[in-house]
Amino acid sequence: MNLPPDFIRTIQTAFGDDGRDMLARLPELIAEASLRWGLAEDVQPVPNLSYNFVAFAKRPSTTPQNARGSAQDEVILKIGVPHKELNSEMEALKFFNGEGVCQLLECDEEKGMFLLERLKPGKMLSELEDDDERTHIAVDVMQKLWRPLETSGLPLAQELAPAFHKFIKLSDWFDGLKEIRPHFEGGTGPFPTEILERVESSLPELFADEHCLIHGDFHHFNILSSERGWLVIDPKGVIGPAGYEIGPLMLNPWGSLMDNDQFKVQTKRRVDILHERLGWEREMTIQWALAHAVLSAWWDYPNLDWNYSLNCAKIFSELK
Ligand SMILES: Nc1ncnc2c1ncn2[C@@H]1O[C@H](COP(=O)(O)OP(=O)(O)O)[C@@H](O)[C@H]1O
Ligand SMILES: [Mg+2]
Repeated sequence: MNLPPDFIRTIQTAFGDDGRDMLARLPELIAEASLRWGLAEDVQPVPNLSYNFVAFAKRPSTTPQNARGSAQDEVILKIGVPHKELNSEMEALKFFNGEGVCQLLECDEEKGMFLLERLKPGKMLSELEDDDERTHIAVDVMQKLWRPLETSGLPLAQELAPAFHKFIKLSDWFDGLKEIRPHFEGGTGPFPTEILERVESSLPELFADEHCLIHGDFHHFNILSSERGWLVIDPKGVIGPAGYEIGPLMLNPWGSLMDNDQFKVQTKRRVDILHERLGWEREMTIQWALAHAVLSAWWDYPNLDWNYSLNCAKIFSELK
């Protein structure tokens, strides 16, 4: 199979020897998945590969009305380098169980491979023009997705407990911000000090909210149209306050900040919709947007497009 050179480079850079090992074993892993899960021969990589091998595949239909005929189900095969994020993705898919999200069909955690319901037609939310409509759809999906942890006495909380350690803790991500000052020898480099201080001082209050199992990378390119309505793909499986979920959403569609005034108007509309639909205080929504924008800029600093998130942060910080 010919893999795009960009994908090979990304995997090698991100995962080093483990990445090279996964790439070398990929034909074997695809063959094993195909045999075990009954996939037809034509396994076709998606055109936008990034950190995992993701491919379109088919297998004999398992739906009762089609099971006896020659009908095929279209599915997605995903294979990645086994590591914490991939494990938490699989675990989250199990717990979300198809509600608001594509369904996990098969899974081998040890080998880092799994099979997903293919969302069709699979139009991305970013392709819709009307931003209000996009935000309303995003809220519909979020509400189906979140799993509160402290529903005392309900089976979910008990069910979640043994798997708890497999999920990503949002507080671990935000602990990363503590590296900024040492990195800049006590200063804050290109990160405006007042913005960083504002984020640092808001975090204890933001984290005091109830913690849930959330998606963790919830944005317009991860929300796709399907026969079951709009559903999300690629959950990170994060434990933290639901408010964080709007962080990635507020920065996206990535690159849409071209005109500062227009971005401000769009952000205010989004904050209003979240207030109307979820009852969230506007101030809290803005603080989460700001906190994530700074975190995203730090993650991307200095190699990726950290400037984009930081510019969004500056605009969020000017909102009342
Ligand atoms: N369940 C699915 N249905 C349809 N397309 C999918 C599905 N899962 C992934 N894709 C396609 O594959 C691309 C990469 O998948 P994704 O899960 O985001 O991989 P990664 O973890 O590497 O970012 C997506 O942008 C989408 O185009
Ligand atoms: Mg993705």
